[in-house]
Amino acid sequence: MHYDKHRRTFDCEPTLTDSQVLQFCREGHLTFPGVVPDEINQRACDWLDGKIPADPSHIPQGMTMADLERIRATHEPSTIFLEGWFIEHVLLNPQLAGAMRSLLGPDIGLPILASHHRVECPEEPQGWHQDADHIFGPDLRFLEVFYFPQDTPVEMGPTELVSGSHIQPTARDNAEGGVFCEGPAGTIGIHHQSILHRRGASTATGIRRMLKYNYWRTAPPARDWIIEEDFDFQTAYYGGHATARYYAHMFYWLCGKGNEYRISGGQSWPWRSANQIGPSYGYAATEGYLPNWRKDNRDGYAH
Ligand SMILES: [Fe+2]
Repeated sequence: MHYDKHRRTFDCEPTLTDSQVLQFCREGHLTFPGVVPDEINQRACDWLDGKIPADPSHIPQGMTMADLERIRATHEPSTIFLEGWFIEHVLLNPQLAGAMRSLLGPDIGLPILASHHRVECPEEPQGWHQDADHIFGPDLRFLEVFYFPQDTPVEMGPTELVSGSHIQPTARDNAEGGVFCEGPAGTIGIHHQSILHRRGASTATGIRRMLKYNYWRTAPPARDWIIEEDFDFQTAYYGGHATARYYAHMFYWLCGKGNEYRISGGQSWPWRSANQIGPSYGYAATEGYLPNWRKDNRDGYAH
């Protein structure tokens, strides 16, 4: 792990394989249950509840201690990113860092803004939504992280997501469920910022805290995660009708090959069925279409 405290970036070995990176493109989320030590989780709760004093490792240029105190008291207590214990054990958590290195490349920019979601349980679920200012596109220039410093089983209303919903506007009835990102204290999740999500309903009693923040790409994309010798771009599973074209485009962008990506539609690559007797036509086409991320064509394709 290399951490540059002046630039607020880090670099480390990637931990995800080709198949896992493609799986992230298809699903748009990853969860690491209970990866932060209990002592740190307790300290995070105490810090967020104002029970322990701030101990910033440095004061950012142009700011004063009074600025830091004001920020800590808001719903965006970003000064937690200045605490040495939080940097070491939460921001640079090895499992999280390895996945980030795989998806966002080298020299990843650390978060600058925290959002603290504090709820007294029990509570009704939020409505399904995609967060403000989300973008649908093949680029992956930042990722959203959430950190639960206390035990967050389903009864405590963890974040609930709809797998694969990060590629297009998605309507969903509030009575319908999703995938819970539950886990013991110290659970960290990564998700594509455009994914459909909500705070789940909680039935237990207690305080449910969640910190949410973004990690940032600083380098152009390249296929520099763990290469699988037998990974085959032609026969890999990219998704179903009307979705595979988007997930495959994202995977190609991450490989640094977004400009080479062309599709022919219908049964052609990147779509495939398990019942084919040969590989899909249209692989490595140099002419054809792009997925219409803006959704302003009836057939969902764009030149
Ligand atoms: Fe949200």
